[in-house]
Amino acid sequence: MLINDRESRQLMPFKYPWAWDEFKNLCKNHWLPQEISMAQDISQWKTPDLLSEDERHLVKKILSFFANTDVLVGDNILMALYAHVTNPEVRQYLCGQAFQESIHSWSYAHIVESLSMDQNEVFGEFQKVGIIKEKHDFQEQFSNGVLRSDFSTETPEGKATYLRNMCAYYLGMEGMQFYSAFVLLLNFKRRNLLTGTAEQLEYIVRDESLHCRFGTRLINQFIDENKEIWTDEVKESVRQNIATVVEMEDAFVSDCMRGGNITGMSREDFQTYIRYIADRRLEAVGLDPLYDENTTPFPWMNEIMDLPKEKNFFETRVTEYQAGMALDWN
Ligand SMILES: [Fe+2]
Ligand SMILES: [Fe+2]
Repeated sequence: MLINDRESRQLMPFKYPWAWDEFKNLCKNHWLPQEISMAQDISQWKTPDLLSEDERHLVKKILSFFANTDVLVGDNILMALYAHVTNPEVRQYLCGQAFQESIHSWSYAHIVESLSMDQNEVFGEFQKVGIIKEKHDFQEQFSNGVLRSDFSTETPEGKATYLRNMCAYYLGMEGMQFYSAFVLLLNFKRRNLLTGTAEQLEYIVRDESLHCRFGTRLINQFIDENKEIWTDEVKESVRQNIATVVEMEDAFVSDCMRGGNITGMSREDFQTYIRYIADRRLEAVGLDPLYDENTTPFPWMNEIMDLPKEKNFFETRVTEYQAGMALDWN
């Protein structure tokens, strides 16, 4: 049992060998932000007119979103998820993931520091009004549901709340909100701009791709063990939460792009992309897609993320994922 098995602190033999394998994969991806040179980025950021004011606005907006979001994800793992998981190998993974979220926060801090950005401007954005605050507030409601003093995973309502939390973080946040911001920022690399920042992001994308894969397996395992709570009502609420994320991402991109387009990327392409991603996330947990969007407008995301250690899980269609990963939930 993933939860409510208070007797078991015994790691081996593993009850969920896939979770142990995911933990070992996660540990292979160790990296540090300072290993990546930011010299060219510093020089490009200082050069007048190399990046337009709109492009600088976009870079700062995205970093503002990321700056505190990994803290939010780390907090949710440690304070909400971890507190209720009783299986040792899954706990082991969550410890590793929380550590990686700290590395990601360090990476964003390192970019902001390297480019001499106003730290209060970038890191304070989430507290202000606007779409970044809206995105954080939306996410926090799922943490708060689990952090309530009367929360319990013993009741069907509690289990459903816990499941909604996992879906909101692993599918909606790490699997969607992160990726829309990744695409916007990685686009600069294609023009040989901000390549150090892009390299930092490529390592983060690889980590997030694995977090998303683990989260999907965790959700499916949880559903398998608690079939009674996977009702039509809960399924629909998860789908609606994903639809809300899509709407917020449309607004976030408009805000980042100041209503126009940026080189190499139109708002329409982006809208297609986020819907394509939403459908993949829903399918991965056995839900019907919302948009029937089957083509990504950014196939270069696959190439840019084709780092040697792991293929990008995130962009992979669920049919390939199931065949490739030989999933066995029993
Ligand atoms: Fe992260
Ligand atoms: Fe993550």
